[in-house]
Amino acid sequence: MKKIVPAINSVFLDIRLLFYILISPLAVVLAYILANVLPGELSQPGSPLMQSLAIVGTILLIITFYGVLSKRFGRPSRFGTVIHIISGSLATILVTLHSAGNIFSTPGSLIFLLFMVIFLGGWLRVVMPENFSMTFGTKLRGFAPLDEGKKQKLKEIISSKEILLSEVEPSAQEGLFSLTFRHWIRSPLLAYNYRKLEKIEEEIVGQRASVEPAQAYCRQLHQALSWLLLIGVAVHVITVTFFANYVADGRSIYWWHIKDWG
Ligand code: HEM
Repeated sequence: MKKIVPAINSVFLDIRLLFYILISPLAVVLAYILANVLPGELSQPGSPLMQSLAIVGTILLIITFYGVLSKRFGRPSRFGTVIHIISGSLATILVTLHSAGNIFSTPGSLIFLLFMVIFLGGWLRVVMPENFSMTFGTKLRGFAPLDEGKKQKLKEIISSKEILLSEVEPSAQEGLFSLTFRHWIRSPLLAYNYRKLEKIEEEIVGQRASVEPAQAYCRQLHQALSWLLLIGVAVHVITVTFFANYVADGRSIYWWHIKDWG
């Protein structure tokens, strides 16, 4: 009976990986089908239906960031991870449907970016030995042996943190304290300086020593591409909403927009 558990677990892991790998191509296939099934005017990316899918998808994409940022700001991490995965997956499906399968276009590069982000996310979560959700946005510390110089530097950092902490949160204890959203709102400069010290401390104690190097780099790539995606989506939304003429390039502007500059 006991032997069945790891077998089921590994099948489950494989299915999860398969899900992360296949979600984007399946969404593209679905988008093609939808674009062919819907009547002409509805099947275009800027139609009321498709644009609404894009807006909901983009909101979900933004919510995906909440999932990981919540850990930084001291919210329960498991809940954040579940939100991260569900909203990311739904967002991928909705924005891909919105593209109507036109992935070989300038905004289509965003779909490719999304593929890479979700693939890396799945890889980190399922294949990497350390559980991604346990390390992303946390303050996990893996202590590598420290030389005297580093120990001294660490002492100085900790005392500076304690001094700052007496202003940020007088009742808190340095070793147990985590910055939360509240601190960033109430005293942004102090919070920023505290975070800077935390980063130096993490570098000294080698936070990365606790994380496999490949995982650390995949994680950074996943984060960097996610921010790039967000910037790309912002540019796309601004151009179709305010520079509709430029985007239409001689066609009639059939989508909802605010200005037709360009
Ligand atoms: C992650 C989010 C998004 C992605 C990946 C995405 C991707 C795409 C793609 C691939 C196209 C097709 C381009 C073509 O046919 O040449 C497109 C068109 C379009 N998108 Fe998005 N989009 C996103 C979000 C949005 C949002 C939030 C809006 C709403 C403001 C929007 C509005 C439009 C419009 C109006 C078009 C039609 C433009 C045209 O016909 O030239 N998109 N988008």
